[in-house]
Amino acid sequence: IKALALMSFMAVLLTGCGKENLTALVPKGYGAEESMKLIILTTVIMGGVFLVVIVVLAYVLIRFRRKKGQENYIPKQVEGSKTLETIWTIIPIILVIIMAVPTTLISFDLADASDSKDHINIDVTGNQYWWHFNYQDEDIQTSQDLYIPVGEKVYLNMISSDVIHSFWVPSISGKMDVNPENTNTMYIEAYEEGVYWGKCAELCGPSHSLMDFKVIVVSKEEYEQWVADMKNYDPEKDEPESAVAKEGKDLFEENNCMACHAIGSSPVEVGPNLTNFGNRTKIAGFKEPTKENLVDWLKDPEEIKPGNLMTGKYPQLNDDEAEKIAEYLMQLKVTDVTPESVNN
Ligand code: CUA
Repeated sequence: IKALALMSFMAVLLTGCGKENLTALVPKGYGAEESMKLIILTTVIMGGVFLVVIVVLAYVLIRFRRKKGQENYIPKQVEGSKTLETIWTIIPIILVIIMAVPTTLISFDLADASDSKDHINIDVTGNQYWWHFNYQDEDIQTSQDLYIPVGEKVYLNMISSDVIHSFWVPSISGKMDVNPENTNTMYIEAYEEGVYWGKCAELCGPSHSLMDFKVIVVSKEEYEQWVADMKNYDPEKDEPESAVAKEGKDLFEENNCMACHAIGSSPVEVGPNLTNFGNRTKIAGFKEPTKENLVDWLKDPEEIKPGNLMTGKYPQLNDDEAEKIAEYLMQLKVTDVTPESVNN
């Protein structure tokens, strides 16, 4: 009964994962689909074992219960059985092999980079507590929102700038550790356009649970458009239209925000790249993209994401300065291919 109650509780919890494209149970990509097959395979096998054990246990409890008038009866004493012991050793070994072989094959397949040259390659860097994406072939840098075309293999070469993180987009991909010292490669392929939630899946510090990102899966045409817009964007030539945003740009420069944050393609990646910031799906990875939230973030990032490196890196901004910088950042939109334009 306890096990049943626990299982129904888990089922209720999992139903909440349907929205937001954050569930491994409704796969929309290759790695997730293969994971789902493994989940079903192991659940069926383990469920079968559970059932057999419970049936045998119930039978024994009922069949050999103490009956009236047998209070002093001593049953036949058995000292073990070679046949039985052999059977219950061999069956579990077979079951473990049935589960282990496909799991291992898929793990190796997802990490197989032998044909990576024919596909899109993106360097992924995990940082406390944000993600950086460098499109090798296009010389494009982004942070937090990863744009990929639907139905194509995309190779991710993952490394960490600090501690161990883990890259996981439950609806699309398998899960891969992101280590500081060696690059791990995994390919992903999304089957449907949409915005998919990604999580860091390795405890990496106080804001580990907030180290969220998004994968934005667009059509091939939209992807090409996005790449072209990102490549053509020249921050030098970009002048904000509104006077407030212009003041914000000046404040951004005066406060030396560029020491950590690049706008446009640049090797600076101490903090997230802010190109196309106005189209970000979230602020700080998980807050709704509103100006109010951005002002709150600029004024006190530690309050929102404890342990992040931005805290204390620049002079304390007053309300007016934070408002203006927020205005500048929110209007940084370099393309019409946005999370909203995607079929979701
Ligand atoms: Cu990065 Cu948890």
